[in-house]
Amino acid sequence: MPKLIPDNILDDVLSRIDIVELISGYIPLKRTGRNFKACCPFHHEKTPSFVVSPDRQIYNCFGCGESGNAFKFLMRYEQMDFPEAVEVLARKAGVVLPLNNSADNKTQGVITQLFKINEMAAQFYSDNLQSRDAAGAKDYLLSRGISWDVIKELKIGFAFDKWDSLINFLRAKGVDLNLMDEAGLIVAKDGGGYYDRFRNRIVFPILDVKGRVLGFGCRVLDNSLPKYINSPETLVYTKGKNLYGLNLAREAIRENDFVSVVEGYMDFILPFQSGFKNIVASQGTALTAEQVRLLKRYTNNVIMIYDSDSAGELATLRSLDIFIEEEVNVRVVSLPKGFDPDLFVRKAGVEGLRKEANAACDLFDYKLKVLSSRYDIKDAHNKVKVCALMLETINKIKNAILRAEYLKKLSLKLDVKEEALLEESKRSKSPRVIPPAQVIPKKKPLNISPTEKLLMSLMLEENSLISRMRDNLSPNDFKDERICRIVSVMFNLVEQGREVKPQILMNHLEEDMSSLICEQEFIPEGLSIEHKERMADDCLKRIKDERLKVIRQRLHEEIKVAQNAGDEARLNSLIEEFHSLIKKR
Ligand code: GTP
Ligand code: MN
Repeated sequence: MPKLIPDNILDDVLSRIDIVELISGYIPLKRTGRNFKACCPFHHEKTPSFVVSPDRQIYNCFGCGESGNAFKFLMRYEQMDFPEAVEVLARKAGVVLPLNNSADNKTQGVITQLFKINEMAAQFYSDNLQSRDAAGAKDYLLSRGISWDVIKELKIGFAFDKWDSLINFLRAKGVDLNLMDEAGLIVAKDGGGYYDRFRNRIVFPILDVKGRVLGFGCRVLDNSLPKYINSPETLVYTKGKNLYGLNLAREAIRENDFVSVVEGYMDFILPFQSGFKNIVASQGTALTAEQVRLLKRYTNNVIMIYDSDSAGELATLRSLDIFIEEEVNVRVVSLPKGFDPDLFVRKAGVEGLRKEANAACDLFDYKLKVLSSRYDIKDAHNKVKVCALMLETINKIKNAILRAEYLKKLSLKLDVKEEALLEESKRSKSPRVIPPAQVIPKKKPLNISPTEKLLMSLMLEENSLISRMRDNLSPNDFKDERICRIVSVMFNLVEQGREVKPQILMNHLEEDMSSLICEQEFIPEGLSIEHKERMADDCLKRIKDERLKVIRQRLHEEIKVAQNAGDEARLNSLIEEFHSLIKKR
């Protein structure tokens, strides 16, 4: 993404923000020595490994490897994109941002417009619901026990039973027909012209976590079909990439550290209205990896609450494997026959639903229970079938120990020898291809020379050393590509007369470099500048020596090649180069 805000302004914002103050506004920080500590908000842990450094103005989690500066923290914690994070912090810091005339990016412009039009449409539908012509819709919603407060909170609306009411409304506001079309709000007629897509329906706006209207789901008022008509795919709405209600539920999800997922809009509303706030709706389809990842930002624990009819389907069972692939804990509630969450809350109250959620079944147990009720496992062939289906799930578990545990459990439950299960598991058709790095979600082990890292750390701590090194060293002298990149950014900043601090440096670097900055070598406190200079010079010498060694070796090889080829001229020039190299030492 091109950065529209000049770097010096970004740096200015950062240098006026205190990251400790910022983060402690979100999570409680405890001082330990020079730093502050907390349990990491980005992964689940009991002992704190999330460290915030007031000196470096960065945070780093030693558990999950997440690290960054104030911008990055907001982006991760608040799910903001970069410009938004900048805007928020600039306001906080009292820095005025240059106006962003982004005519340069056409798509971005259209996206912004689509959000605006969707917002206008949502407002229109919502206002409609107040009108006399919407009495039927209002009665319908109230008859289903939905309160006015929640109608407002969810911005529920009504589309009139007319072909052109939205078109006329938007046209009067100066909105282009093409844009309405692009927003999916209208449909082209065969003979030319357009008509409103949603008519005589309750309108549920689908919002993202930032509260922007992505699209709409619209329900009939009776039993006619189709029950729902949704927005088509647009530049801002993609099926399976959003979760209904997440914008309102996310705080409660974080607080409770679990989320309940239901299928329908209606299944979301009543529980939510009754105080069961950590809930979202999948909107009918099986959850996608994207949706699971959305949830993962807030919790690692998901409880699927299904209507009894859909819960036992094989397709439903299979779809649950997505949680295993995403390493999210999933449990399942299958409501009693004839109930969906909406009806269940009306009958058993929200406490009833809570009870069901608390008693939710582990995916393994749940799947086995469903399969055992479907196949009589006294029959050997059925047992084979059930084993195969269970192994499908077990094989997706990334952690080998956990996998072994489940195999053991399956062996006990089905009375099948563990070795046999293991053999079948290995034989099963879709071998898992999981790179080992993914198993442990920690930082990659780095083979960086401690000398290079130490010099980088020294320069970061003592900016005067950067100029000192710049005169004697090229970034290319560093063997590690990433350090080479970091050092060249440092040199550039110094050249421009700018300060080089970790949090500022991060602004100028690619994402995966920030962890490296956090991994600075330990430098004892209170060293004199002379001492640090000596250390840096020492590093410099070692890096130079190392570099020379590499060059010498390369020359050696080239000389050999030239000798074998009988290339006199090349040989002479190489030998000359070799001598001058030795002289340099
Ligand atoms: P009620 O029947 O009023 O309780 O509505 P509901 O929202 O709970 O719907 P239901 O349980 O039947 O379906 C669950 C979800 O599937 C809905 O909320 C919609 O997101 C989706 N869905 C259901 N029917 C349709 C349909 O006809 N078309 C589309 N596109 N989606 C549907
Ligand atoms: Mn329903």
